[in-house]
Amino acid sequence: MNTYQELKNAREYIDNLMTNILATKRASSPSHQAHEDLLDRLLAPSTDATTPKFTDAEILGETTRNNCNTLTFVALELSRNPSVQESLKKEIKHLLTVYPTLTQETLHHFTYLDQVLRETQRLHPIVGIALRTSTAEVEHDGYIFPAGTKVGLHLMAMHRDSRVFGKDATTWKPDRWSSPDAPHVNSVIAFGEGIHNCIGQKVALIEVKIILIQLLRRFTIHLVEDQKIEFVTKGLKVRLVEDA
Ligand code: HEM
Repeated sequence: MNTYQELKNAREYIDNLMTNILATKRASSPSHQAHEDLLDRLLAPSTDATTPKFTDAEILGETTRNNCNTLTFVALELSRNPSVQESLKKEIKHLLTVYPTLTQETLHHFTYLDQVLRETQRLHPIVGIALRTSTAEVEHDGYIFPAGTKVGLHLMAMHRDSRVFGKDATTWKPDRWSSPDAPHVNSVIAFGEGIHNCIGQKVALIEVKIILIQLLRRFTIHLVEDQKIEFVTKGLKVRLVEDA
């Protein structure tokens, strides 16, 4: 089976899994329950209470695919940088003894995980360009942009700007975020910015963090050798080796 077919099968597997979970949730868990979880929130009706806030296709498209792509880049960088992976595993194993239950609050303590994710989203933003259309004439930097001008905000280029991130702007280096001259956290805008920024960013970060914590508490990620790594579309093969 070729890599494309394997990737397609994996996608179908995840989509089916999610579709079944959503169907079970819709059937069994009304959104007004006291102990609602994140899926309950996504499945809750919109404010007019007649339509769901998100369709299944939107939840599948946004949650699983964007998150899977983010996780792919994290797996790639962690397997290429074993010392970072080791430090992250140490943080995870230690913090799980202090905070065995993962909640939105306890996740805040995983600061190195935050750095790893921010650095991955900086170097490999899943959405490369955020689009806007001006609603009025705007003057900027001596240029006039008439109403209706389409503007693309090149997140990838902004995240690799050496004026902001220094000479090693194109190097994946989570430790840059704890250095005394760390860039401002807002210089990474992988979820966009302004009133149309990503409404799912909190959910996305919680999901990605929980998956990484559950994986790295037990396994170490290794790249499968002899694979040609091409920009995500072709997928990435990793081996999970259970810790001794
Ligand atoms: C790592 C995962 C994700 C990334 C990197 C991401 C990134 C983005 C980006 C860059 C935008 C465009 C923002 C802009 O134009 O300023 C966006 C919009 C959006 N995202 Fe996400 N997203 C992720 C996960 C999610 C999840 C989990 C949901 C759903 C719960 C979601 C729902 C949306 C919606 C509805 C919009 C459109 C917002 C609007 O136009 O007002 N995203 N996302």
